Amino acid sequence: MSDAKISVTFEQDHDRLDALFTSFQEQKRRDFAKATEAFLAFKFGLQRHIVWEEEILFPKWEENSGMAEGGPTQVMRTEHRLIGDCLKAIHRNVQAGNPDSDKDEQQLLALLKSHNMKEERILYPSIDQVISDEERAAMYQAMKEIPEERYRACCGSEDP
Ligand SMILES: [Fe+2]
Ligand SMILES: [Fe+2]
Repeated sequence: MSDAKISVTFEQDHDRLDALFTSFQEQKRRDFAKATEAFLAFKFGLQRHIVWEEEILFPKWEENSGMAEGGPTQVMRTEHRLIGDCLKAIHRNVQAGNPDSDKDEQQLLALLKSHNMKEERILYPSIDQVISDEERAAMYQAMKEIPEERYRACCGSEDP
């Protein structure tokens, strides 16, 4: 990957995922096949993002800051489970060819908005502060090495 700061890389990924979800919402009542494609890219990307955070970013921050139990990463992990539940509910509708998942979509957007804001304003800058350049490079390398299958089994959803 690059030697960009963690905050830059992860904010960019949030923005990329937001754009995919918007594309799903815009297309779903016009071209369901296209909307499905956008949704699946969003789902896979979000699961990958969460695996990167939970398996690489958060443990590193917990190790370097000495804050694990009851800290912000614990809150973020709990929110990931709620995000995963919404994702699953929308996915069920997408699989059934049903575009009427507006309520779950609103809930997911609300969850992601506050979750991403907390990460972008507090957690990511704090991670950048507690890691060295070498540690950051090792984290990007570790992100690359996680096998794809891990992203598909995230958020309690076993479906491909
Ligand atoms: Fe997160
Ligand atoms: Fe994030």
